[in-house]
Parts: sequence; structure tokens; C-alpha cells
Amino acid sequence: MKERLKALAQAAKTELLAARAPEAVEALRVKYLGKKGELSAVLGGMGKLAPDERRALGETANAVKVQLEGLLAEAVGRVEELKLEAELKGPKLDVTLPGRGRRPGRRHPVAQTLEDIVAVFARLGFSVEAGPEIELDWYNFEALNVPADHPARDMQDTFYVEGGTLHAGFSRQPVVLRTHTSPVQIRTMLKQKPPVRAVMPGRVYRKDSDQTHTPMFHQVEGLLVDTKVSLAELKGTLDAFAKAFFGAKVKTRARPSFFPFTEPSAEVDVSCVFCAGQGCRVCKQTGWLEVLGSGMVHPNVFRHAGYDPSQVTGFAFGMGVERLAMLRYGIDDLRTMFENDYRFVAQF
Ligand code: PHE
Repeated sequence: MKERLKALAQAAKTELLAARAPEAVEALRVKYLGKKGELSAVLGGMGKLAPDERRALGETANAVKVQLEGLLAEAVGRVEELKLEAELKGPKLDVTLPGRGRRPGRRHPVAQTLEDIVAVFARLGFSVEAGPEIELDWYNFEALNVPADHPARDMQDTFYVEGGTLHAGFSRQPVVLRTHTSPVQIRTMLKQKPPVRAVMPGRVYRKDSDQTHTPMFHQVEGLLVDTKVSLAELKGTLDAFAKAFFGAKVKTRARPSFFPFTEPSAEVDVSCVFCAGQGCRVCKQTGWLEVLGSGMVHPNVFRHAGYDPSQVTGFAFGMGVERLAMLRYGIDDLRTMFENDYRFVAQF
């Protein structure tokens, strides 16, 4: 047994001296000094020996154990040093390199524009209302005097929600993604008595997708209802808005138009902000840019909303936020607004 112990000590010494990595040293510790290691295996057989033989062997075994522990500690120190040397020779950390900058987030031009529009009307005494983007056909079309066969109701233009729904007070009827913010006019009038002076910003959806149209975009609706509201007040309000939004030099003009929910209806243009009305590529040499739809609230709309058209009059308007943002910042491709590219957003 003594011979076995000596052989064991010799083998362990050779292997420990050859070890070059911390993992290898640890493996040798387990192999020789571990609970199920070779030294334990030899010592396990000692119980069968006579007492004096056992004592003598015990001394040797202890000496071997101490020797192995010493060798192990030495090996641990040596491989640590090797590791450190390797690290010092390896790739260097260049402390003179500039740090990686952190970019602060930016408001999206659509969000900025929407807030600015609302802020202009807030100064003119308008409150802010909101309505759902998933809307009943009745609010989006019927109550707004849009006839059953109107092209806007076509599956080509409107996103219909599959199945429709049953709604308190309504028979089963189509459910749509609202195609404009005008249904919020109805919701606002149904919940409050006149007068009303409110703007209604939000997302709207249409089955459109090309250079100048995206299937989702933003509108700001406006509604003013009181006694004796006139077309002149509509023009004055929108002119004040245009000057506050685009600058005091901007001129506005109203052109006759048609919307089922207003009568008369008008499209409002601003003098081209790129050429100051001189005529350029953007305004197609006309000197004018169309910016919104508007008109005097149709009596049928008042009736559907529970207002008496012999008692009140009002005007309404709706404008596209992306379009206004493009004109204001000189953005020429609508789709850049939806690509979520920081380099684009950071320019405004
Ligand atoms: N709802 C119309 C549209 O989306 C805009 C509009 C609103 C026109 C209010 C007149 C009055 O085109």
C-alpha cells in the first residue's frame, strides 16, 4: 500500500506540473484529493490492516496528502499567472476612443403638427373631444347624411370589421374603421347641449396606399354650433388658423365643394408656402394648396344628433395632419412619415 501511495504522489506531481489552465488544475484536485479521489480510495482499504501497520501507513498517507496540497496550491498560483500574462498580451483596451453617444428621442412630425393644430384652436376657445377608431356605420355615415349608395361606403374605400355587431339601441349593423373624424361631431352633440366649440383629433382609416395616401392617417375635425353662426365666421376662423399655423403672410381662399354633411360646403386653400403664391412645382403653378374641407352643418346632421336645426346653426371642418406636416416641413414623400427611421424624425 505504501508503494501505491508513493506511485500516486509521483503521478499527481507530474500531472500538476504539466497543467496549464485553472480548469485542468481543478480536475486534478478532484482526481487525487476529492472525496471519491485516489487518495481516499487507498485510505479506504486501511481498515483491514493490523493497528501498527495502520499507524505507519497513516503517517505516510498524511505526508502524501500534505505534499499534494502543497503542489496543488503551487499549480493554482502558476496557472493564474499564466492566465494574466495571456490577457496582458491579448487585445488592448483603447481608453482614448470616444464614447458611444446616446441619442435623445424626438417627437414625430405628425405628433408635433397635431399638437400645434390643437393648440391654435385651444387659443380660439375650442375644447378637445375624442371618439372611437372602431365605429358603427351609423355614426360614420348614416348620421352624417351620407346616403346608402355613396361611394365612400364602398368596400373599396372603407375597412369593414367582419361580422358587425349588436349595439344597444341599434339593430345589427356594419362596424367600420372610421374613415374620417366627423363621427365625433355626432358623438359630441349627442352628449352635450349647444353651444359646441370643439376640435377632435385622431386616426382615420381608408383603403388607400400610394405616394400620397396611407391606409391610416390623422385628421383634426372642428365643430362650432351656436345660434346664428355664419359662413363668414367659418372663413374668419380658418383664416386665423392658417395664419397662426403657417405664418401671418399666408392668404386663404374658399372654393365651393360638396360634402353630404355640410351645406354649403367649401374647400379651403392656402397661398403656396413654397413659392409664396408665385406658382411652383408643389402647387402645380396655381399658387394655392388645398388644406381642408369645411362647410355649414347640414340640418339632417343636427336632426340625427338631437339638435333642432331651426334653433341652431354651425360650421364644421376637417383637415389631414400628415398633409399639413408635409407642407409645413417640406416633406415630399408621405411614406417617410411611417418608416420609423430615427434619421428622418431627428430632422424636425
Ligand atoms: N370629413 C371630411 C373628409 O374626411 C372633411 C370635412 C369635415 C368636410 C367637416 C366638411 C366638414 O374629407
